[in-house]
Amino acid sequence: MNNFEFMAPTKLIFGKDTIKRVKDEIPKDKKILMTYGGGSIRKNGVYKQVMEALSEHNVVEFGGIEPNPKYETLMKAVEIVKNENIDFLLAVGGGSTLDGTKFIAAASKFEGDPWDILIKGAEIKDAIPLADIITLPATGSEMNCGAVISRLSTNEKFPFMSPLVYPKFSIIDPTTTYSLPEKQTVNGIVDTYVHTMEQYATCEVNTPLQDEWMLGLIKTLMVEGKKVLKNPNDYEARANVFWCATCGLNYWMSLGCVQDWSTHMIGHELTALYGIDHGESLAVVLPRVWKNRKCDKMRKLAKMAVEIFGANEFLPKNILADITIKKTKKFFESIGRRTKLADYGIDRADAAKKISERFRQRGTVLGEKCNIGPDEVYEILMHC
Ligand code: NZQ
Ligand code: ZN
Repeated sequence: MNNFEFMAPTKLIFGKDTIKRVKDEIPKDKKILMTYGGGSIRKNGVYKQVMEALSEHNVVEFGGIEPNPKYETLMKAVEIVKNENIDFLLAVGGGSTLDGTKFIAAASKFEGDPWDILIKGAEIKDAIPLADIITLPATGSEMNCGAVISRLSTNEKFPFMSPLVYPKFSIIDPTTTYSLPEKQTVNGIVDTYVHTMEQYATCEVNTPLQDEWMLGLIKTLMVEGKKVLKNPNDYEARANVFWCATCGLNYWMSLGCVQDWSTHMIGHELTALYGIDHGESLAVVLPRVWKNRKCDKMRKLAKMAVEIFGANEFLPKNILADITIKKTKKFFESIGRRTKLADYGIDRADAAKKISERFRQRGTVLGEKCNIGPDEVYEILMHC
């Protein structure tokens, strides 16, 4: 097991009827900017619950944060933060609203061009405190210190991380997810699956407890995810899927493990260039990254074939690894998520050329062994 450090500074408030708790978690002397997306919170009653709970607070609103939150939009919120002397941010909505709010928190205090936070990894020295009421189980953003921001003008999408943007608290009321379109529920299941796999399916460094946690999460997600799709108002299943998503990227499960994240980095480019959803991009790329890097991931994929997919443990590891790749693809397809670029109207040769060239220009190498360079990315995408 590799050395690790761990900190989980976010207070989680989880369960039915918890939105009203926001009132007690934000001091009354704070001037709050409440951020949200394109209006789902108005339709499903979340907006009303939040406004009622904060009726004695000083709240300014900023709506219109898009899926794959855009730098251009977020900078408008930064202006409001500065002009209105905002000193607390409350994100209400999905991962995009929360990620965008993390960026607003950092950019509002940043000296210089805030795009440098994304393109150059410039150090964040200060940020406005933030919290959230999260309504979509997918990103794990509610318990982590990462965010992914897109820029319209250049069709780019980059992540950033800083301990200063951990939410102070996150309220998770699974009943808010009853209103999710099926497509978003599926995206969330795929995202959670792939987060777990980017941490699990890597080279072996003797982390049996972490491996069991991650395989346990996948088992739970597959069972509870199917229940949610069958009955969207099944509270217990919605709660279990949400908890899987939060744990899928709160850094806890993979302490001391080696991590991959190449599927995400290639997926971000597909979203930036062709506009497909994050979950869609992952379902296309993951099986092909695994095929390409099967030798590095063989032991973990083989173990998963036995423990998750019930394969015979005496089969050769190579065959077991193939079973996991095939069954994972089948699982995505069984919940309605297509797994080929052509399914989304994307020409694979175009994607392979553009994305490998971007990585070549940036000098990007990916994967747990840093052995996925532009040529491998080209190869992977040509097979998507
Ligand atoms: O914008 P509104 O009107 O709120 O509608 C949203 C949006 O259209 C809707 N929605 C959210 N909650 C709803 C709801 N509709 C009905 N009922 C509800 N309860 O769903 C649509 C998608 O929302 P979005 O926030 O974009 O989805 P998600 O949570 O999947 O976030 C995706 C973004 O997160 C980034 C992705 O790259 C992408 O930009 N990620 C962030 C990560 C992190 N912070 O750690 C890690 C992930 O790997 C991921 O990259
Ligand atoms: Zn993701």
